[in-house]
Amino acid sequence: MSHPVAEERPVEHGDALNLVRAAIAEAPGPDAAAQRAVEILRDRFHHYDWVGIYWLDPSGTDLVLGPWIGPEPTEHTRIPLGTGICGAAAASGQTEIVNDVDADPRYLACFSSTRSEIVVPIFADGQVVGEIDIDGSDRDAYDQTDARFLEEVAALLAPFRPRP
Ligand code: SME
Repeated sequence: MSHPVAEERPVEHGDALNLVRAAIAEAPGPDAAAQRAVEILRDRFHHYDWVGIYWLDPSGTDLVLGPWIGPEPTEHTRIPLGTGICGAAAASGQTEIVNDVDADPRYLACFSSTRSEIVVPIFADGQVVGEIDIDGSDRDAYDQTDARFLEEVAALLAPFRPRP
């Protein structure tokens, strides 16, 4: 039996999208909106161990860490475009799913517990303006369902990018 595309999104993703929409609508400002979004993502999905948003610096050369939530801070608060998984996703505009960070030479290590990572670009006016970066403690933690879901979250976050 075939299903309409709208029914292919798992219920928990639809619920989380609605929570993010509501939180963003109620947030007192852009930083609070993005902070609530990362909190909701980490709360709702046990395989999202560390969730952060990097915004592209106005110069366009570096990603700068914005709101994040997780067990510990990262030392990578500024990442040049093209460096690491984060810099690769921002440079290409493609979602990156890394099933085993130890096998990816681009990987910039943040946490000893990380085994896999997903990075989803945030676009505004057709340009990358930032990205959602999520680390997981299991190998193969992320798949195309996560990618499509997080691309929808990324679209919700785009209006909250820092403006000069
Ligand atoms: N692992 C990332 C760096 C950011 S930390 O995961 C928070 C990378 O390879 O770009």
